[in-house]
Amino acid sequence: MTGNSQRKYRADYRPPIYLIDTVDLDFDIRDGVIRVTARHSVRRNPQVIGEGDRWWLDGRELRLLSIAVDDEPVADAALEITATGLWLDGLPDRFTLTVVTEIDPERNLSLEGLYRSGTILCTQCEATGFSRITYFPDRPDVMSRYTTRVEADAARYPVLLSNGNCIESGEADHGRHYAVYDDPFAKPCYLFALVAGDLGVIRDTFTTASGRAVALRVYTKHGNEDQCHHAMASLKDAMAWDEATYGLEYDLDSFVIVAVGSFNMGAMENKSLNIFNTACIFAHQNTATDGDFARVRDVVAHEYFHNYTGNRVTCRDWFQLSLKEGLTVYREHQFAIDHGSPGVTRIEQVRMIRDVQFPEDAGPRAHPVRPESYVEMNNFYTITVYEKGAELIRMMARMAGRDAFTTAVKHYLDKHDGQAVTIDDFVAAVEESTGLDLAQFRHWYGFAGTPRLRVVSRYDDGRLTLEMAQATPATPGQKSKPNFDIPVSVALFDDAGRVVREPEIVRLDKQRDTFVFEALDQAPTVSVLRGLTAPVRLEFDQNEAALVRLMAHDSDPVSRWDAAQSLYMATLKVAVSAHRNAGPMPELGAGVIEAIATLVADPPEDRALLAEMLSLPSATQIGEAFEAIDVAAVEAGRRHVKRRIAVRFETELWALVDAHAPRGDYVFDRDAAGRRRVFATALDYLAGLNTPAIRERAREVFERADNMTDRMAALNALQDLPGEDRDAVRAAFAHRFADYPLVMDKWLRLTAATEDGDAVARVRDLLGDARFDFTNPNRVRALIGGFVRGNPLAFHREDGAGYRLVADEILRLDSLNPQLAAALAGLLAPWRRYAEPYASGMRDALARIGAAELSDNTREIVEAGLGEAA
Ligand code: BES
Ligand code: ZN
Repeated sequence: MTGNSQRKYRADYRPPIYLIDTVDLDFDIRDGVIRVTARHSVRRNPQVIGEGDRWWLDGRELRLLSIAVDDEPVADAALEITATGLWLDGLPDRFTLTVVTEIDPERNLSLEGLYRSGTILCTQCEATGFSRITYFPDRPDVMSRYTTRVEADAARYPVLLSNGNCIESGEADHGRHYAVYDDPFAKPCYLFALVAGDLGVIRDTFTTASGRAVALRVYTKHGNEDQCHHAMASLKDAMAWDEATYGLEYDLDSFVIVAVGSFNMGAMENKSLNIFNTACIFAHQNTATDGDFARVRDVVAHEYFHNYTGNRVTCRDWFQLSLKEGLTVYREHQFAIDHGSPGVTRIEQVRMIRDVQFPEDAGPRAHPVRPESYVEMNNFYTITVYEKGAELIRMMARMAGRDAFTTAVKHYLDKHDGQAVTIDDFVAAVEESTGLDLAQFRHWYGFAGTPRLRVVSRYDDGRLTLEMAQATPATPGQKSKPNFDIPVSVALFDDAGRVVREPEIVRLDKQRDTFVFEALDQAPTVSVLRGLTAPVRLEFDQNEAALVRLMAHDSDPVSRWDAAQSLYMATLKVAVSAHRNAGPMPELGAGVIEAIATLVADPPEDRALLAEMLSLPSATQIGEAFEAIDVAAVEAGRRHVKRRIAVRFETELWALVDAHAPRGDYVFDRDAAGRRRVFATALDYLAGLNTPAIRERAREVFERADNMTDRMAALNALQDLPGEDRDAVRAAFAHRFADYPLVMDKWLRLTAATEDGDAVARVRDLLGDARFDFTNPNRVRALIGGFVRGNPLAFHREDGAGYRLVADEILRLDSLNPQLAAALAGLLAPWRRYAEPYASGMRDALARIGAAELSDNTREIVEAGLGEAA
């Protein structure tokens, strides 16, 4: 094993022995090398007594030029250097530490620490990238005030940025220049940022509620400025929203975003200097879809919201990651709900939880929202920490009521301003502020696995009894689970769809319990867990008639959608099983036909909701319904049902296409985006019929489109229709957007997801194509991720060629960018969920990766995948 691969435990937390009040950094940027001089004012932590005078500083891939305590070089005997840091011995209680190191951004392809993205020098320090910049206690509970001086060639690096206010700048010798930044807020080192480059910029101003003017800037490579306006508008929106919703005003005079092409994640919330993946900033109608516009809006807001939930109050240690991410995702969700269609926004969140989080929580990498241990922190930026973490916040908000919860968040932020705290500190602040008792609720943070909620309903003589029971499966390292405190919303409807009991929340906090509703005139239709009031799997047998009623009449759009999904799922399961047993494929059930007929005859006003309600559950969701996933059967079953729907409703689908066809100029708003979604959904159904009319229509849409959303709708419709129309539009697309890497990512995805021909060979060819770049994570995610997720039949080829391809690339990537390699390895890890021959093929590929010398990142994932079942 490479690296020093120590497992870290939450229970081992010890406060830092020394604190650093101020950090003074000097970056001398030269060709090929950067000299970093760091001066720290250090003092003993008064909270820690009797821990000796030995201090650990993290540091990786650094050339140490000198180290001095109070300007005296440290003697060799007092210094012990290892591959991951150094020990200092015999330290006084208060001193100045001066460390001079050299770093080489050209050789750093890990996209952590200080690295080069194209011509831009930039940083990424979360979680532990700062230790690639200088020796430092790289842990979030050491908070300091930073001053940063940057000096570089003025022609090559005209823009020099760091956190806080620019307090000085000027010329230096030999055509060089410098800038000095001061950040008045103490921060952990993971929020440090530096950028140097030749950049284009757009500027704006935001005036805060109290009347302060904040200068806003978005920087990017020259020539891309016109793709940054939506991000700027979103930033101003987010600033106004946080004032209006939480009373939180921005706390500095400037806020800067820099977009770079090579970035491992989506974006990073460095204090006053956010650094973004261009994929989460660029949005122009010609190059970005409605989905991209929404994503940019939400990521910009998310990073901005971290200024309070994350930066002003940060995490004590990385086990507490959900403290900032769960809460910030929750705030981002609220923001999204206020900006898009509320119902559909929630549907998207629910789908994410069910399609991605539930499988993670049932697989080899299941972990609590607050993990107990890790080898590589970067492996724990998971859907569980983020989205399940946000669901836990949402549950508390619901129990408290939205206003009381907002007050509680403010109380938490006041109480802990400037501190590094724990999830438990947050929950305690919520208890203090709201009076809730969250003792049992805390289990949600400590235990992994998705609880199953079984509901049985009985109606008898005017009284409805709901029996509820919970059970949570074992997860790795956690055999038995406590009872969770599960809020379950319930509403009752009569046969005509009228509400007979307004929605209310009942709480299941025991293993089983009974809830009774009296004085009913007739057996009601029951709607439970509406909008997913808790992240649990609901087991509730409802007949088709009840589901059709809920789909048509439920007052909550999410419940209507959910009822539609249950109806589709019943038919889909039959189709998948029929294919698996080589039996006759089923016709559409009467319920599905009635549901769709009602939907198209009386569509919801919200067009995006119509599109969602017409869409079948994803292949992942269908697979979830089976003991072992038979990939070919799931694909065949889903296609069969989709085609039967297209045949049965061909006229209605054409009517939807015509009624929602592009008209007028592109605008990104709720209504227009909803219309485009219906159009794309109907087009996609009709494509299954592969008629000349639909091929022609798709081609025409592509040629006339004034925006990327419609263009992608056409390309998707033609995806599995080989022939002249498809070739022509694909070629035109590749030609027109050859100079737009993010659009070429869409092209790479389409090409990787194409089923006809030998997809594995096609992907191997693309790995050598000039449009591909192995060192850029967006390209790798598009091609390899696009292949795995977009082309299940090729990835899961029975001869294992798809798995081999992915394993080969993981092995090649691991030494450059272990973070990304580990993320890709995660795609093979859940092999136990699959039927044969898939399971063995995936496991063999994983074992082959495991036999190589690996980074800690990939090693941890592979070992979890090959480990014992829970
Ligand atoms: N702090 C993270 C970015 C990050 C994650 C840095 C992991 C280093 C390691 C940031 O706030 C974040 O969560 N970004 C998300 C997008 C967000 C909208 C959920 C991302 O990058 O995907
Ligand atoms: Zn975040």
